Amino acid sequence: MAAIGLWPFTRDIAPSPTPSIAWPAPADPHFWRWVRSQFDIPKDESYFNTGTLGAVPRPVMETLAAHMREIEKTIARYDYRPEHPEYFAGYRKQEELRAKVATLLSATGPEIALTQNATMGTNFVANGLNLQPGDEVLMTDQEHVGNRGPWELREKRQGIVVRKLPIGTPPVDPDSVVRMFADAITPRTRAIDAPHITSKLGIVIPVARIAQLVRDKNIFFLVDGAQVIGQRRIDVKAIGCDAYTTSPHKWLLAPPGNGLLYVSAARQKELWPTLASGSWNDYEPGDGIFRLMQYGTGNLSLLVGLDAAVDFHQHIGTDRIADRVMELSNRLRDGLKKIDRARIYSPTHPEMTCGIVTWGLDGVKGADLMDRLWNRRKIRVRSVDEGMVRQST
Ligand SMILES: Cc1ncc(COP(=O)(O)O)c(C=O)c1O
Repeated sequence: MAAIGLWPFTRDIAPSPTPSIAWPAPADPHFWRWVRSQFDIPKDESYFNTGTLGAVPRPVMETLAAHMREIEKTIARYDYRPEHPEYFAGYRKQEELRAKVATLLSATGPEIALTQNATMGTNFVANGLNLQPGDEVLMTDQEHVGNRGPWELREKRQGIVVRKLPIGTPPVDPDSVVRMFADAITPRTRAIDAPHITSKLGIVIPVARIAQLVRDKNIFFLVDGAQVIGQRRIDVKAIGCDAYTTSPHKWLLAPPGNGLLYVSAARQKELWPTLASGSWNDYEPGDGIFRLMQYGTGNLSLLVGLDAAVDFHQHIGTDRIADRVMELSNRLRDGLKKIDRARIYSPTHPEMTCGIVTWGLDGVKGADLMDRLWNRRKIRVRSVDEGMVRQST
């Protein structure tokens, strides 16, 4: 922390801690073993529930904790002058951090709002759009509650129509999903909200092809990328969506309490803020969605933790992580195929697979399978349904 020093400081938040970590060379044969050693999880325990909550690497955790401690030590020196560093989050623009995290989505800083999680981002879009009773919103029948709840609330309160398309468990192929959305669009369709990767079965949805369906139509396209950031590369421009919401506390291994919402510069004006404070009505051209970051005092150390998690991620490299995640999930799928009683519920179509493998054993309840894996081998998976466990590699 001495290297970081909170006072006096010219940035909104502390700089990254990466230089203090002695990283092994990328080609080091023990590279991944070293990465494993950066987590506080005991050696004999294996964690496969990143789809719920990522494990925060020790250097990230230490950076966060040191920052929080430093805040407490130096709080009496804080004079609230704008040229001095902030002691809490929620009021400054955090332009540097937003520019940095934006690169993970191939976006720019002003297109990113710092939120708390994917659910908050979906709420901001679902609440923020001008919609009339009878206007339709399309989604799949496999949304996480955090992605459908915000629209269902508006349906009950204001009479919009939420249509949940039965895409198959899992879908036959990406074409069938695209066809289902294409056939469901009507003149009343005003928004589509689709997951990039579904929560329970880890289905990769062809979101770029869905975006093509709405091009030149007055339909707002939100993608729920809660399971994607940190797992694989995201390019919101290549997808062509209007908004993209994420939960960095999963695969990006950031401390919980951080979220990112991308809204394309072209569509930002269409969103009313859901939470209002000083800048709720600012439509400054260069920074359209600072308006969506008006939630009052927050914990600045969490942003320092997010910053450090991005460094940790970038030091390894997004593509290298994506390859590793797929290598491990392919190994899991191959192994399961050799077990007679094992059944894979996740897709096996190569364009729809990812690092989430949901599987079961015939005749064994998901909760029992989860407990057995833990009790016998200290392997943590998550039971997600009557007969399934979800394993995040
Ligand atoms: C696909 C998907 N969307 C949304 C969410 C909600 O995420 P959060 O609770 O971080 O807002 C999850 C959480 O597991 C998810 O898997």
